[in-house]
Amino acid sequence: MICELIAYFNSYKTREARVFGHLYESIALIEREKRCRSYWLSHRTLCKNFITENMNKCSGKSSVLVLGSGPLHEIPLELLARSFEKVDLIDVVHLKSTKERYSQHKNVHFIEADITELESELLKSRKVVNKMPSQFLDQNYDLVISANILSQLSYHLRNFLEKKARPKLSAEELDLFANQVTFDHFLYLQKFSCPVILITDTETVLQDKQGRVIESETPYINFSFPVPIKEWWWNVAPIPEYQKNIALKMKVSAFVLNL
Ligand SMILES: C[S@@+](CC[C@H](N)C(=O)[O-])C[C@H]1O[C@@H](n2cnc3c(N)ncnc32)[C@H](O)[C@@H]1O
Repeated sequence: MICELIAYFNSYKTREARVFGHLYESIALIEREKRCRSYWLSHRTLCKNFITENMNKCSGKSSVLVLGSGPLHEIPLELLARSFEKVDLIDVVHLKSTKERYSQHKNVHFIEADITELESELLKSRKVVNKMPSQFLDQNYDLVISANILSQLSYHLRNFLEKKARPKLSAEELDLFANQVTFDHFLYLQKFSCPVILITDTETVLQDKQGRVIESETPYINFSFPVPIKEWWWNVAPIPEYQKNIALKMKVSAFVLNL
């Protein structure tokens, strides 16, 4: 907890990063990763391998855009920095510790931006806003990577509206909004004129101590994906990280869009 507090106060924070809970979530993610490291290792390796195996599907090597780069647990950053002239990392929060770890790479840029392009408007209006994102589309990247953010994008926004929207929104209205945010990211990726590596969880299951599935859902994904190139299970929260008697796993699907 003390480490988390120090990281919180040491980090540069935008109003959105604080209000929507991104900063706290980013710090919590680092701490959770420390506790679950051995369980997350295979998922992290599979993500890095998938990016490594598919990054040559782009024709040029001038620039790569990584959306939701976070602590870079799932990104082969050293390889990208060696292979591309410019590496742009986009996240709503870049922790000081992550920036310092890669500060020797002068071609790596940490850019703070809201990928949904909705947060400042939501903060002002406190009501449902939908917008197709458009930032970075005009920059002619050779490759775009979206790794484990698609299902995350609506989470804090939905929570915010659930508490702050006036008049209050129903669960159906909130779900509709969350689905739209997720779908808009998927459509946004397809607007780039280069290959896009998309890695995302597509199913969440809860399992009891005996490994029996007690619940399965696809949170805020109400559209069809193409057939994935690869799929695996990510042991996100083994017992007792999520609950005393329940473990949480996610099916992860990996695609290359726009080929
Ligand atoms: C599960 S983490 C991704 C981890 C990352 N791919 C890695 O290699 O470690 C999700 C990331 O999405 C970021 N994020 C969530 N909503 C965002 C938004 N609206 N704009 C930009 N980044 C966002 C979070 O800050 C977090 O770093």
